[in-house]
Amino acid sequence: MTKSIEQILLQNEYSKEDIVCLLQATGEDEKALFRKSSEVKLKYVGKNVYFRGLIEFSNICEKDCLYCGIRSSNRHVSRYNIADAEILKAAKFAYENKYASLVLQSGERSDKAFINRITKLLKEIKKLSNNELGITISLGEQTKETYQEWFDAGAHRYLLRIESSNKDLYNKIHPYNEKHSHETRLKCLQYLQDVGYQTGTGVMIGLPFQSYEDLANDLLFMQKFDIDMVGMGPYIEHDETPLYEFRDSLMSLNDRFRLTLRMIAVLRILMKDINIAAATALQAIDPLGREKALRLGANVIMPNITPTNERANYLLYKNKPCIDEGADDCTNCMEARINMADGEIGYGKWGDSKHFSRRIKK
Ligand code: 5AD
Ligand code: FES
Repeated sequence: MTKSIEQILLQNEYSKEDIVCLLQATGEDEKALFRKSSEVKLKYVGKNVYFRGLIEFSNICEKDCLYCGIRSSNRHVSRYNIADAEILKAAKFAYENKYASLVLQSGERSDKAFINRITKLLKEIKKLSNNELGITISLGEQTKETYQEWFDAGAHRYLLRIESSNKDLYNKIHPYNEKHSHETRLKCLQYLQDVGYQTGTGVMIGLPFQSYEDLANDLLFMQKFDIDMVGMGPYIEHDETPLYEFRDSLMSLNDRFRLTLRMIAVLRILMKDINIAAATALQAIDPLGREKALRLGANVIMPNITPTNERANYLLYKNKPCIDEGADDCTNCMEARINMADGEIGYGKWGDSKHFSRRIKK
């Protein structure tokens, strides 16, 4: 006999089958799921929403992921690399506007010049902010030594999405070669945890070839890996990528959007005290997408503070929001948005994942 959603929600633990049911909930069932996840959120992480100023400082990338607009084979992209002085200016903006933390993201590179540059930037950002600004980096797969070097230079959180915990699916959405291996991705996540980072991961939702069971496994993977932070968003097809070929097999954008909200809700119930980001890709589908995610489980938002002239060139997917606004506009707009979602902004607080503090005490 199949269980009802109400019954599942009363349990303390969920099996994979339970999660698949929750991910398929619609109508009143979906509402019950969202009610429960917002209760859990308020109880365990409260109303605070933390800002991470996001700087996408370069779209130069060595990788060739089949879904990503800035993949190295895409010749239509105009490549940029924002100067250190500009990055430091944006970091200063974040510090002065009491953003608790900064996220430095770029395409993936592993040459020595790049590694040294990041180390230098991290040290300078720590200095200009009196050691106060928290720094998250999202710079792809690196050696353990590089992760350690950047950690020692001042980064304390790292985001590296697993994209999918299913190796077969991972291989379908990446070129099948050594540079794009699922094993390496997993190994890197492990290195990050070993070095001592608050470790974040995530997946794309609504990918071609992806099943509900894959997504349930993704959530269980995050739980098993004891991850501290998650950012996951809908897959949005980009017409200059190979995966675009499969666009007709996808669920509608709106269904991908709803499914992402249910993924966030279930994750919040499974991992009560982690930090969950309201992904920008949600806003590409629904102008209030991120606010909806904040209401039912997310507690982190990443306003884009990349200097405006380059924003339009960091298009991982089409219809990316906030590519014309300056950093100031984004802050004002964010405040209004968070009030709308009944949240409170955790200005000047690092907003570390509570889960991480518990994890390292163990
Ligand atoms: N749609 C949605 N998300 C994407 N990403 C890359 N390309 C796309 C796309 N087409 C996500 C990946 C990557 C993160 C930086 O952006 O999950 O890890
Ligand atoms: Fe960027 Fe509103 S969030 S302008």
